[in-house]
Amino acid sequence: MCGIVGAVAQRDVAPILIEGLKRLEYRGYDSAGLAVIDRHSVLGRLRRIGKVSQLEDALNHEPVRGGTGIAHTRWATHGEPSERNAHPHMSGDITVVHNGIIENHEELRAELRGKGYVFESETDTEVIAHLIHHERKSSETLLEALQKAVTQLDGAYGTVIMDRNDPDLIVVARSGSPLVIGQGIGENYVGSDQLALLPVTHRFQYLEEGDVAEITRDKVSIFNFAGEPVERELIDSDLDHQAGDKGEFRHFMLKEIFEQPQAIASTLEGRLTDSHVAVEAFGHNAREIFEKVGAVQLIACGTSYNAGMVARNWFEDLGIPCRVEIASEFRYRRAFVPDNCLFVTITQSGETADTLAALRLAKEQGFMNSLTICNVPGSSMVRESDMAFMTRAGAEIGVASTKAFTTQLTALLMLVTAIARSRGRMTEEQESQIVSDLRGLPHAINEVLELKDTITELSEDFADKHHSLFLGRGTMYPIAMEGALKLKEISYIHAEAYAAGELKHGPLALIDSDMPVVVVAPNNELLEKLKSNMEEVRARGGQLYVFADRHARLVAGEGVKVIPLGEISDQIAPILYTIPLQLLSYDVALIKGTDVDQPRNLAKSVTVE
Ligand code: AGP
Repeated sequence: MCGIVGAVAQRDVAPILIEGLKRLEYRGYDSAGLAVIDRHSVLGRLRRIGKVSQLEDALNHEPVRGGTGIAHTRWATHGEPSERNAHPHMSGDITVVHNGIIENHEELRAELRGKGYVFESETDTEVIAHLIHHERKSSETLLEALQKAVTQLDGAYGTVIMDRNDPDLIVVARSGSPLVIGQGIGENYVGSDQLALLPVTHRFQYLEEGDVAEITRDKVSIFNFAGEPVERELIDSDLDHQAGDKGEFRHFMLKEIFEQPQAIASTLEGRLTDSHVAVEAFGHNAREIFEKVGAVQLIACGTSYNAGMVARNWFEDLGIPCRVEIASEFRYRRAFVPDNCLFVTITQSGETADTLAALRLAKEQGFMNSLTICNVPGSSMVRESDMAFMTRAGAEIGVASTKAFTTQLTALLMLVTAIARSRGRMTEEQESQIVSDLRGLPHAINEVLELKDTITELSEDFADKHHSLFLGRGTMYPIAMEGALKLKEISYIHAEAYAAGELKHGPLALIDSDMPVVVVAPNNELLEKLKSNMEEVRARGGQLYVFADRHARLVAGEGVKVIPLGEISDQIAPILYTIPLQLLSYDVALIKGTDVDQPRNLAKSVTVE
């Protein structure tokens, strides 16, 4: 989704803006632009369709310089990707970048046209530029004009504005779309993600809903929606400056797949005792809350939803009622709220618009408490939930989620254990076994990663296919869903996941030699059932690719390839069986030559509905 960078400094900020935009490329975009003002109030603006590198080339050919600047990567919502629709947008001396969607843009457009404004783009953002320009005429300051303008906006915005007549400041506003202020020495910055600003600062203040702020070189003044001055916590980020580098890997996705042992070790660090999950890791009052939990409602989107599907099996196996729902569905229906129901959001970014809206709705619906399982400290979901459990996966840049998913599963298994123990639904021995399995995860993942070359060979069989099927049962059904999501996301091969028992209720009709069927087959009590499903596929000439426990006695042969994994305990099998599916989708995408880290039409963080 769109990205924002802004800076006020004594030096030329164009390089800071370009570097910041490059670090936001992973969010997905189709055009990029920047504007800078120098100390003589001369403004330069450049916009290009395509990559930030094209904007950088343009900057090298037609240099624009200045100490105050704003920049943007645009992901088209209103109006096609074009230079005309790219940000920054201007109205006279006012220049604006914006993330989000202004829902009442048509009404405002009509009103502003009536006042004589001429629109040059099809974007909703241009409305903000003209509105502020209009309000500026009757306001003492740019900040006051912004405060008047935002009262007229419906929808979501993170917006940053400059005025050519006030060359030493930028003003910003946040409602529904994240903005973080970065504090430097003698210069200050703003971004839609702290990652953009890591080369220049590690000191951040997240704006809250309704905040506006004025940023100069040596001062940051923040005001809440009522216009009162407020302080927002100053956070020292421990994110590594190198977080945005691929290192020795060809793609971020591959790097992130191989980072999983370390990422999971971080998720666990300091949160396990010899034989217990530390309940306090979920919050200082978690023990008291968990003792009362009667049911759990999990809410998420995409990959995070698949993690929730696995966790539902874990919870209900232990007799704890659990429902899981896609955020965009939950937010538009009347959900039944069981007594003492804990509301849990699962989100890598902490900013997904639908999940955030569901969390806000849940607060009005009588859920007991809210908890978020999240990877981004300081994100909206972390700030707005009663409790937050950070997955500590480190920055995930590839649009296709990998280490975020396996760390979510790890966190969820810890949550299930903590709640089950608090509710007397799990014995000490069971907990101790889970703790030992969790501790062994980093090593076990390293072993699975050794399958890389075998999977690379296998991927050749998929590259010319147009469709594929992924099958699993129990906790492996959501893992099949995740495998299918990965493949379709980055290789553009149509991939569908089915609970294997559903085969003969429809999808069996699709089976032929052109339809590879991937099966996730650990050695559990559903294995025999799964074998029957595989026979159904085989009897119809389907090609099976089976990821199976080496003790499952599955034999490769005509139409069946078996990729053996080690002996894996039931509880952690979903985490380990995910890894070969990630590798498979990566290798297939590589052969197909798609943009692995930034697949077409997708964005890393979906901050609009
Ligand atoms: C998966 O590879 C995608 N990146 C996507 O499905 C993602 O999981 C979804 O958009 C939810 O994002 P979140 O975890 O940041 O809320």
